Amino acid sequence: MKAIIVTNEAEGTAGMKLTEWPEPRPAINEVIVQVHASGFTHDELTWPATWTDRYDVNRTPSIPGHELAGVVTALGYGTTGFSVGQRVFGLSDWYRNGSLAEYIAIEARNLAPLPGDVDFTVGAALVMPGLTAWQGLFDHGQLQSGQSVIIHGAAGVVGSMAVQLAREAGAYVIGSGRASGRQTAHDFGVHEYIDLDNGNLEEVGKVDLVFDVLGGEITTKSAGVIRTGGTLVTIAGPTQARPVGGRTIDFIVEANRQQLVDIVQRVRDGRLKTNIGNVVTIDEAIAAFAPNVRLKGKTIIRIRS
Ligand SMILES: NC(=O)c1ccc[n+]([C@@H]2O[C@H](COP(=O)([O-])OP(=O)(O)OC[C@H]3O[C@@H](n4cnc5c(N)ncnc54)[C@H](OP(=O)(O)O)[C@@H]3O)[C@@H](O)[C@H]2O)c1
Repeated sequence: MKAIIVTNEAEGTAGMKLTEWPEPRPAINEVIVQVHASGFTHDELTWPATWTDRYDVNRTPSIPGHELAGVVTALGYGTTGFSVGQRVFGLSDWYRNGSLAEYIAIEARNLAPLPGDVDFTVGAALVMPGLTAWQGLFDHGQLQSGQSVIIHGAAGVVGSMAVQLAREAGAYVIGSGRASGRQTAHDFGVHEYIDLDNGNLEEVGKVDLVFDVLGGEITTKSAGVIRTGGTLVTIAGPTQARPVGGRTIDFIVEANRQQLVDIVQRVRDGRLKTNIGNVVTIDEAIAAFAPNVRLKGKTIIRIRS
């Protein structure tokens, strides 16, 4: 099969190679999915899991990409819940070969059924931003109707999904990001927008929750704009920042079948839209990941047309 592999972290995207690779076999409780569309996150080649296994042992060459939509072609022993020919979408294990390939072996529990009226490109584009936004807002942030939330990077892939879900949940939504992201953030539904290049985070007063995707100084400042007892949720890694009398949670998104079912239903109802940027073929993918090209929206690789 065709696959994109990486072997050398120092080379970044320049070290990506499109090659022939052995097709995977399904282990117990796994399925093989013929990948139709795959998602790639722009900073994936800086994640430790791209390069090592859970023992921190080098696992290269590895296949990046962890979001996928496709069709089940084989079932491992004991695998229940899916059938050959079924459309699925899901999130693959960070520490195993991913979805920038024609086929992937993936645990069945990481997948959900993809309804027939949802395109594979849309399915792949929903997985990581949808689950991350859902888990950040509701599982970790426990956002309630009537509360206020600042969502950093609101024009970005994860942020734009969080804006829509928070708004639908009845929250007052303040987006933040660069000046250039203002219109996009409003298009996704923010009530207000803070331009972090020119404005001041403190201007908006105190909020119940901050959903942070940016890290660094922005995370630290965010703790100061949270009401006593409120919550700072970040996906940008561990932080010492703590809101007064409140909680800070940093987390890594996890596969969750029921959440994917709920998320894709919102797309079918017209309540949620994806933030898709470039859609490229596997032959074009490496050029599209080149670091000098700043891509807006989720990059989706159509492995099969
Ligand atoms: N922990 C987890 O489970 C998890 C899950 C998913 C993603 N992530 C991480 O979350 C981060 C965001 O992912 P994403 O896909 O949403 O990225 P993205 O689409 O690039 O979104 C980031 C947004 O924030 C803006 N931005 C970046 N730096 C900024 C700054 N210093 N000041 C103001 N605005 C800034 C970007 O604007 P420009 O486009 O103009 O730069 C963009 O609109 C990535 O680092 C990703 O790896 C973590």
